[in-house]
Amino acid sequence: MTSLFDPGMLGDIQIANRVVMAPMTRSRAGDGDVPTDLHVEYYRQRAGAGLIITEGTQPSPAGKGYCRTPGIHSSSQIKAWRKVTDAVHAEGGKIVLQLMHVGRVASHLNKAPGVETIAPSAIQAAGEMFTESGMVPLDTPRAIETDEIPSIIEEYASAARNAVQAGFDGVELHCTSGYLPAQFLSSGSNHRTDGYGGPAANRIRFVVETIQALSRAIGSERVGFRICPGNPFNDIHDDDPVETYGLLLKTLSPLGLAYLHLIDWPNPQIESLPLAQSCWQGPLILNESITLERAKTLISGKTADAVSFGRPFIANPDLVLRFRKGLPLAEFDPNTLYSPGPEGYVTYPPAEIGGGVAD
Ligand SMILES: Cc1cc2nc3c(=O)[nH]c(=O)nc-3n(C[C@H](O)[C@H](O)[C@H](O)COP(=O)(O)O)c2cc1C
Repeated sequence: MTSLFDPGMLGDIQIANRVVMAPMTRSRAGDGDVPTDLHVEYYRQRAGAGLIITEGTQPSPAGKGYCRTPGIHSSSQIKAWRKVTDAVHAEGGKIVLQLMHVGRVASHLNKAPGVETIAPSAIQAAGEMFTESGMVPLDTPRAIETDEIPSIIEEYASAARNAVQAGFDGVELHCTSGYLPAQFLSSGSNHRTDGYGGPAANRIRFVVETIQALSRAIGSERVGFRICPGNPFNDIHDDDPVETYGLLLKTLSPLGLAYLHLIDWPNPQIESLPLAQSCWQGPLILNESITLERAKTLISGKTADAVSFGRPFIANPDLVLRFRKGLPLAEFDPNTLYSPGPEGYVTYPPAEIGGGVAD
């Protein structure tokens, strides 16, 4: 029987255990959206995870929405990420980069001067965003032209090649939380009348073509994707997520991808796990408020190949060790989630056993 602490494979990525660190934006990037030495230390501390999925990282300047998020489109970013991947690999860990293009969930105040906010349709999302000048309403985006779409997909492919150059073991396409791929998938934010809007078969096209481009760029077995069907975060709405996501999963299932990363968020509109079980044949990472006990059952019962934890990794850099030894978990400070600097980022200590640091 497979245990949470057994090694496994996610596509081509060999993992030492089934505990995955979920992607978490922590807003610590430096000038030029470049990761810093703090990133090196933060991810090194958490390399005991079977796999780390990085914070959402923009594939292009237009993909940026929040302040102090890193990119993977410039040579200084690639160089800086290399230090992160080297540090994680030196500890025996594996790390993939989450590619996150925010689309309309952006403020131009957080972008480089002159960089536009774009989306499938010119529909402003309800909500506000933090900027260095305080909270502001989200931008009203410009609708992407049909003949622009190949270049946006190519930005993702180029970002994936950069990620491999930076030493990452793969990439994860962020398709949830109301960002660009989710904006294409969802009927509420996608009012296009071309081949990328309208029926579900058209609304999934952007994601499918992007996954195909990522696969051509670095190999399908190093490409994963993340969904949360029916998630309303960032003012997203889909009339029929069962149809949309069922079709998406059936279309992507034969492509030999590294994994599906499913946020199984409770939602009266849809039961995501049974949907994934009927439409997806590849490796599965499951997420959302999972306890250690449930994680063990999910792995031993073969419901999932791996389980991801977000919040528990914030204050417990050695989470896998604590799980193995049944040690108590530390609580994180919500005030330092997105604040600049080391506090609440690299300052959580490893567990102590009998007065000493746990081995
Ligand atoms: C501070 C913070 C930042 C997050 N940033 C991202 C992100 O960049 N990309 C993403 O896909 N999910 C992001 N999430 C969601 C987490 O990956 C995860 O799905 C969520 O925390 C639920 O898992 P948990 O119950 O184990 O914490 C973030 C969550 C937190 C708490």
